[in-house]
Amino acid sequence: MAYTPENLTITPRDRRFGRGTKQERWWLGGDPVATAFYNALSATFPKGEAFFVESVRAFRDAAPPKLADEIRAFTTQEVMHSREHVAFNKRALEAGYDLSELEDRIDRRLEFVRKRPPIVNLAATMCLEHFTAILANQLLSNPKHLRGADKESGDLWRWHAIEEIEHKGVAYDTWLHATKDWSRRKRWKVKARVMLFTTRNFVVDRSRGTLALLRQDGITGFRAWRKMLWFAWINPGMLRKILGAWLAFFLPRFHPWKHDDRNLIRLVESDYAAAILPQPATA
Ligand SMILES: [Fe+2]
Ligand SMILES: [Fe+2]
Repeated sequence: MAYTPENLTITPRDRRFGRGTKQERWWLGGDPVATAFYNALSATFPKGEAFFVESVRAFRDAAPPKLADEIRAFTTQEVMHSREHVAFNKRALEAGYDLSELEDRIDRRLEFVRKRPPIVNLAATMCLEHFTAILANQLLSNPKHLRGADKESGDLWRWHAIEEIEHKGVAYDTWLHATKDWSRRKRWKVKARVMLFTTRNFVVDRSRGTLALLRQDGITGFRAWRKMLWFAWINPGMLRKILGAWLAFFLPRFHPWKHDDRNLIRLVESDYAAAILPQPATA
């Protein structure tokens, strides 16, 4: 908790995106691979974020007042993210994609983890929140990732990313408080094991999800694998680019706020951003 900035405010921004608009099937730069990658991610959010909320809220009553307030703001943000990704996923459905296979996989993962003790659920959430925070940092640091996105979808992903950065310490601080009587060694062992497990599932499941969506575009077999791996690991290479930040999680005394990246929030919310962010591909 010592690392969370004193002047941090977690501000839920109640925004809605793309209502009443028809989304192009390949909304991201007309590229089926980029679209599949982000659609696969979005498919997981409504249920995944509901799980994050229940995992962290289970520890709210025992939290000190400041942390309890942050948990409240975190909850409000995640609930709104779920709402907007439900709407986004509906537009993907209307554009012709069937996400049910991806959603079933999430159901199975959550069914498994919910049988574990609350502290394990909190640890899984803390790990996945680190994932979302470093993805968000990369998404906002490098305009290449969302280049050519339609305006509403691009705005949705940027909005989600800034709030993920803003609340990135909440699950972690909740974990630090909940395990304050544990030895440093035990804490590290549990969090490292849970991180390796969730990372393996995250990478495998999102890759399978991306391939499942590419199949719906008639891209299959070796060609699909090659395109998916190229996109994720080489160019623009989101997974490669977050590797260093992912590894930092294993350092002794890691804390998400040891890297203060609120400048990205200010950048996206400034008028300056309007001038430098990529313009929509179509008028
Ligand atoms: Fe979120
Ligand atoms: Fe989050």
